[in-house]
Amino acid sequence: MVKIRNYKISDYTKVKEILEEASLFDGVWDSEENLSGKIKANPESILVAVKDGVIVGNVCIINYGSKLQYLFRLAVDKDYRNQGIATQLINSAVDIARKNGVNEVGLYADADNSKLLAYYSKRGFKKSKSRYYYMWQDIK
Ligand SMILES: CC(C)(COP(=O)(O)OP(=O)(O)OC[C@H]1O[C@@H](n2cnc3c(N)ncnc32)[C@H](O)[C@@H]1OP(=O)(O)O)[C@@H](O)C(=O)NCCC(=O)NCCS
Repeated sequence: MVKIRNYKISDYTKVKEILEEASLFDGVWDSEENLSGKIKANPESILVAVKDGVIVGNVCIINYGSKLQYLFRLAVDKDYRNQGIATQLINSAVDIARKNGVNEVGLYADADNSKLLAYYSKRGFKKSKSRYYYMWQDIK
């Protein structure tokens, strides 16, 4: 059975491994320090899926004000895919959003990954017309 719970600092190594394998890891966004700061501010803002005591997936939650929540870094260990684990992570994040009175849950997905877009579409997510790039400055 898979259990969804809040991320703990001791989960970092496995979460990093899952993100790297899924090509989602970024040295700034996903540093141990940044994730620790994130759960310190909001303990429910990173969820992990645990099966037989092993971390097998994760999702991050970003609140934009009180009515909008983004899902981010949804990833499942490749050996545990197609077992409904990501669906459980999404559902748990949506439950948290409902509990907090949020009106909309959204995410950014690769516009060229039609399989992924279909995956989210099947789970009730609507698609915007625009394509986006993430743009940033390194300030340190
Ligand atoms: C997308 C992903 C999180 C799905 O995890 P999962 O636990 O296998 O998903 P579930 O078991 O809940 O659902 C299985 C479904 O996923 C589909 N699926 C499997 N691999 C997938 C992939 N790489 N991309 C999209 N969908 C995928 C299956 O075909 C099945 O589809 P259906 O139920 O819509 O018919 C997982 O494939 C993954 O970690 N991919 C790499 C990271 C990634 O792309 N994350 C999304 C960031 S926006």
